[in-house]
Amino acid sequence: MIGIFDSGFGGLTVLKRIVERVPQYDYLYLGDNARAPYGGRSEAIVFEFTCQAVDFLFKRGCPLIIIACNTSSAKALRRIQQEILPRAYPERRVLGVIRPSVEKVVEGTLSRNIGILATEGVVLSDAYIKELEKLDPAIRVHQQACPLLVPIIEAGEQDWEGTGMLVRRYLAELLARAPSIDTLLLACTHYPILYDLFRKSVPPGIRILEQGPIVAEKLEDYLFRHPEIERRLGRERKRIFMTTDTSEKFDRLAQVFYGQRVESQLVSVD
Ligand code: DGL
Repeated sequence: MIGIFDSGFGGLTVLKRIVERVPQYDYLYLGDNARAPYGGRSEAIVFEFTCQAVDFLFKRGCPLIIIACNTSSAKALRRIQQEILPRAYPERRVLGVIRPSVEKVVEGTLSRNIGILATEGVVLSDAYIKELEKLDPAIRVHQQACPLLVPIIEAGEQDWEGTGMLVRRYLAELLARAPSIDTLLLACTHYPILYDLFRKSVPPGIRILEQGPIVAEKLEDYLFRHPEIERRLGRERKRIFMTTDTSEKFDRLAQVFYGQRVESQLVSVD
């Protein structure tokens, strides 16, 4: 199975796009809902939790894991790739969402001014700034933390009028600092739920990118280039959902994030 990991529900927006693009494989989704959100947590804790999740998914037999969570991708992925995999799982792979996103972001920007909307943890890690610098040092990256959006979406309040006010406020702060932005990346698993609101709140000339379709396209390409991983994947179109918190809540909110009914299992990863 391809393992998909997120701190909670948000990664379902990524899984949704992946299964649309490459439906033939088996997928095992793990949401660490009991310990979410990760966005305000320290690097050491995010690393510890993400390692536990990766270990859990490897023990279930996943040869490949996608870390759909930006916070885990920013604070844990590199160390997992460099320290854990070569020692403990040399035949397995773990990929994140930052590298594929920045590759897409640099295509098609004319002003070379990019806006990144993310959790506080991702913004403070500067992970997007560092990755974009490697790809194109001339790109200017402007970040905006939107700390209130994840809890609002997790509470199912995306249609509340206050959500619109907050989105407009975050965007106004960002665009006042960097009026030449022509590309905005929704660098958080949850923000695609508010895509229409973001779209309505910025001028039409600004491109808004969500990560699900980007990660799905890059995964397809990765599997094409890595037949040694691809041939180890199951092809029975299984979709298995696991959560570290109650499955009733997971199954209810999965409708919003995944757009379909799911039946999750409660598991413990630590
Ligand atoms: N999944 C997280 C991310 O994409 C958002 C939710 C959280 O803070 O745990 O950064």
